[in-house]
Amino acid sequence: MSHALIDPHGGTLINLASSNPEADLARTQDLPKLELSSRNLADLECLATGIYSPLTGFVDEDAYTSIVNAMRLPNGLAWSVPVTLQTSNTSDFAVGDDIALTWQGEILASLHITSRFTPNQDHEAQKVYATTDDAHPGVAAMREAGSVYLGGPVTLLKDVPHDDFSDYRLTPAQTRAKFAEHGWQTVVAFQTRNPIHRAHEYLTKVALEVVDGLFINPLVGTTKSDDVPADVRMRCYEIMIERYYVADNVMLGVFPAAMRYAGPREAIMHAIARQNYGCTHFIVGRDHAGVGSYYGTYDAQHIFDELPEDALAISPLKFEHAFYCTRTKQMATAKTSPSEVSERVFLSGTKVREMLSQGQLPPEEFTRPDVARVLMEAYQQK
Ligand code: ADX
Repeated sequence: MSHALIDPHGGTLINLASSNPEADLARTQDLPKLELSSRNLADLECLATGIYSPLTGFVDEDAYTSIVNAMRLPNGLAWSVPVTLQTSNTSDFAVGDDIALTWQGEILASLHITSRFTPNQDHEAQKVYATTDDAHPGVAAMREAGSVYLGGPVTLLKDVPHDDFSDYRLTPAQTRAKFAEHGWQTVVAFQTRNPIHRAHEYLTKVALEVVDGLFINPLVGTTKSDDVPADVRMRCYEIMIERYYVADNVMLGVFPAAMRYAGPREAIMHAIARQNYGCTHFIVGRDHAGVGSYYGTYDAQHIFDELPEDALAISPLKFEHAFYCTRTKQMATAKTSPSEVSERVFLSGTKVREMLSQGQLPPEEFTRPDVARVLMEAYQQK
């Protein structure tokens, strides 16, 4: 039986791959070249495969201004974080130029420059990240990327190369086909950048109780240096799915984007990307995509209520802070457990990293022991 899946954001799944890559590649050889950063490369992949539908390139000044100030594209569709191509090169590249985008010297894509602008980055920082503090990793990355912004449509000439997670690199067209194969009409997506722990397991399983399938979609693009590396995290997910989930009801696929740590604004972007993958629901827990204390615990949930009602087709599933409750002897939140704070086991990522670096396994109430062992081995190798 075939089911109609949820529409991509804006109605059409974007695919920026050239229909004639050999000829296009030949034509680009002599164009001026711009070497991409790993963050640009991740954005290029998300743009080209339709993860960022309806965007068809790096934002021009109009789209940038509208996204930063009003959280929407010039056509009115919701969009929360500008996908920019920045350079510190203030003399090269003009409006009207076609340029080649390279990674490690190899041409991957071409860009037709329709816009070149030098916006106020303090304003962008305040609007998108809610701070201008350079200690914020997203703000720092934005400034380091350069002050000149180049916008315009992109054509992908060669697949973005990867030497890892080949079984888990699925485009939205592929996830949509797989969801349909499974007969899933409703699919909940789980964004994560951390090793899976009991609270994550709880959220994903509670959500799975009311939908057909679970798409675990860990972000594997650039993260801050003290986050756990993606290959270690992926081993943890594989163990969890094999031993503690019903494999038929779960799909694992990587999300190639880089982390921006933009909290609420990034939660919206994460939700849109998952709608494009074909998911109908999206988990938003405590301090989603946050860092430090820049955002309130539930700001990333409240921001969904600020959007017009029909802005997104995907529905956020909002969860309170989950913990292991020693009174009721189960995972819970303040909504479901009457316990005192002293009866609740909460551990922060920072605390877990501290324990691992001292050779201590996090408690079983926090992390499954087989997952804790993978993390410990990774820390000891480091
Ligand atoms: S994130 O940067 O990708 O948001 P993380 O991997 O820690 O970080 O979280 C993944 C998702 O789980 C997010 O929606 C986050 O809000 C949620 N989450 C993580 N830990 C908890 C918890 N203890 N209680 C409730 N939600 C949580």
